[in-house]
Amino acid sequence: MTGMVRGSQLARLLGQWHALPARRRSPDYLALAASVRGLLTDGRLALGMRLPAERDLAEALGISRTTVSAAYRELRDSGHLSSRRGSGSWTTLPDGMRVGASGLWGPHDDPDLIDLSCAAPPAPAELTEAARAAVDDLPAYLGKVGYWPCGLDVLREAVAARYAARGLPTRPEQIVITNGTQHALDLVSRLLLHPGAPVLVESPTYPGALAALAGARARIATHGLGRTGWDGELLVDTLRQTRPRLAYLIPEFQNPTGHLMPVRLREQLPAVAHSAGTDLVIDESFVELSLMGPLADGSDTPMPPPVAAFDKHSRVLTIGGLSKPYWGGMRIGWIRAAAPIVQRLAAVRVGVDMASPVLDQLVAVRLLAYGPEIVARRRAEMTRRRDVLLAALADRLPEWRVVVPQGGLTLWAELDAPVSSALARAAEGLGVRLAPGPRFGVDGTLERFLRLPFTLPEAQLIDAVDRMAAARFDLDTAPARSLYSEQALIA
Ligand SMILES: Cc1ncc(COP(=O)(O)O)c(C=O)c1O
Repeated sequence: MTGMVRGSQLARLLGQWHALPARRRSPDYLALAASVRGLLTDGRLALGMRLPAERDLAEALGISRTTVSAAYRELRDSGHLSSRRGSGSWTTLPDGMRVGASGLWGPHDDPDLIDLSCAAPPAPAELTEAARAAVDDLPAYLGKVGYWPCGLDVLREAVAARYAARGLPTRPEQIVITNGTQHALDLVSRLLLHPGAPVLVESPTYPGALAALAGARARIATHGLGRTGWDGELLVDTLRQTRPRLAYLIPEFQNPTGHLMPVRLREQLPAVAHSAGTDLVIDESFVELSLMGPLADGSDTPMPPPVAAFDKHSRVLTIGGLSKPYWGGMRIGWIRAAAPIVQRLAAVRVGVDMASPVLDQLVAVRLLAYGPEIVARRRAEMTRRRDVLLAALADRLPEWRVVVPQGGLTLWAELDAPVSSALARAAEGLGVRLAPGPRFGVDGTLERFLRLPFTLPEAQLIDAVDRMAAARFDLDTAPARSLYSEQALIA
């Protein structure tokens, strides 16, 4: 077991577990079981979590204990719950299910499923060539012990040079190579946080960051993003007043909203953070994926300077990686920080995984040599796909409101009603896997929103929107049982 959830906590997560009007609902116990399964499927309720005693949950939801008993029985029958007398009941993964790339889980093989739960592109063609060339580079390293906790110097130099090219002078000693950006965030959390430490994140935000911070037992507070992004004044005030230990922000093409932080706020944040005693963890995963198009003279629309460019007190730890512009399978990321902090991070990582694989780092160096062509191609492709997705949504789901993302790989749709989780459950039955809005927040809110990646080929995006439109229609019209049945949920 990984922990336990109290009745009041589960009730909060369940939110509007009825979602449908009374006349069309299935029996309460089925609706409750389906909603718990939905929480499990979309990652908001962890596997191995002990559920509250029946009486606690009944009290928290204001329903009868018999209903909770029947719902738990239903969950046991479908393989989502195990119980032992005296030990309670804990969540389980049913046979034939697997955990997927997004951290969500579903059936093993379903070739027809369109997976919109994960925003990650496939590898560029140049990767094979880069890997071949890297093998030739390998012998120079084979005579040494093989552990470089800060990363190989060649790769640190290449990453530092990329910051310099963006106008941020950086020495290789300011870089530690990690196994992806997620690992970077984990190391930063291990170094900076203690259990109960206050942390500020955007809402919505990247669920993997919430998972890493929860793993560090941080106390998470949120800064809500609006239709135009950050409310700069409010964010600055919040930092001053709440003085979090760490603030985690995604200023470039924020995941999931796609917003780009304006220069003015970038300028302010490091100094405010310093006076509040806050370290800023700036996630630049999407910084290379501007979809803003060229200016009239054909040149690229300029990007604002990195937040770290305004840092005078070593308060900014910038994390980034190759997953979004290149390929997640590389598992290469990094942290840019003051050199002494890099040394401390490397010391922490020795207790975690020692060092990153040498060959993979050499592949990364070779791949970065193709960088400009790969990134230009990717940006052009993602711009086309974004526009196809926007057009399909305008055509099939015109009541949804969408802000056109200026970059990144996802858009954040505002639905016509707070039905995101119910929609995700219904869409699963029609062969589309979605990550519902509440997955990107901390407290079961964001039911009015849905994140949609545009990384899949155009035809699949159009097909997915058709199926989502059908699922949305079903939510208003179909008999309840089909929405709440086990099959519709995850099979
Ligand atoms: C904002 C953000 N940070 C970090 C990650 C994790 O990336 P990596 O594959 O480099 O670990 C993701 C992946 O989706 C992301 O969106």
